[in-house]
Amino acid sequence: MVLNKFDCSLGEVKFQGCICNASGPRCTELDQLTKIDNSKSCMVLSKSATPKMREGNKKPRYWDHDLGSINSMGLPNNGIQYYVAIASQISGPYFISISGGSLEENCEMIDQIMACNSKIDGIEINLSCPNIIGKGQLAYDFEKLGNYLDGIIECLDVRGLEKAIGVKLPPYFDMWQFEVVAKILMKYPIDFITCVNSIGNGLIIDIDTETTLIKPKGGFGGIGGSYIKPTGLANVRKFYEIFQENGSKIKIIGCGGIETGKDVFEYILCGAELVQIGTQFYKENTKCFSRLENELSEIMERKGYSDLNQFRGKLKRR
Ligand code: DHB
Repeated sequence: MVLNKFDCSLGEVKFQGCICNASGPRCTELDQLTKIDNSKSCMVLSKSATPKMREGNKKPRYWDHDLGSINSMGLPNNGIQYYVAIASQISGPYFISISGGSLEENCEMIDQIMACNSKIDGIEINLSCPNIIGKGQLAYDFEKLGNYLDGIIECLDVRGLEKAIGVKLPPYFDMWQFEVVAKILMKYPIDFITCVNSIGNGLIIDIDTETTLIKPKGGFGGIGGSYIKPTGLANVRKFYEIFQENGSKIKIIGCGGIETGKDVFEYILCGAELVQIGTQFYKENTKCFSRLENELSEIMERKGYSDLNQFRGKLKRR
């Protein structure tokens, strides 16, 4: 295989490109996943799956805004069997996102993925969905997080770890939180973390009608898009610094508010191995992947970089 300047990897899985879809918009149905497969996205990542299909929360549950988006989808998805069954129809690297309501549900889904004979290259375990009515975000419960990962690793270990395994994290905001979470994560043989999920339980309001934009949970929902880029960058940077200081090999997928090639460059400069696109992919569809790659390429050429390793993580301090 010819080396491409955007090549990167997670565990044993190699990617020809560094930009892909985030689990969220436009990745629930096979035809949507096929469109991603036929685009410049470097992987195909499914909508977060649950053991059984779910309709999700009441509509309207997603709203676009100039500065980003708010959603409270409530995990509408076709159920894990569907995402396992379609693996044979996807040619590029295929990752399944899982978001079980309990450790047992996640292990049940991991077993189904591991038992599949078709190629499934990785699992992104979502520990940070903010939109399940009556449930908190597991990755904010630092006491439960370690036990939870113990359980996940135990069920993965049974069949070996040939796939790339990672966890999707919510944004953290205080410096001690990064230290505590990184210390827990570094105990486990995970290949990557994805930083960040939407900022949970934000509120966007329409002043003309004096109404919330979305219906579920009294209008509270996950915030994505430009609103959250500084938070995403900070999470990638802080985890990168801690992993470097400790010699950890955990890689970081950057996510949050990427709209241009400059944003991609910034995430990689902070230490991201690759990046995911959520809100902008919703707005622009699959052509965002080639546009972003072209814009990143132009910046790299201007700066004289011929591959990502020449600047990845090399953010300078003033
Ligand atoms: C949903 C939202 C998330 O932020 C997430 O990580 C998983 C699912 C949702 O509401 O469907």
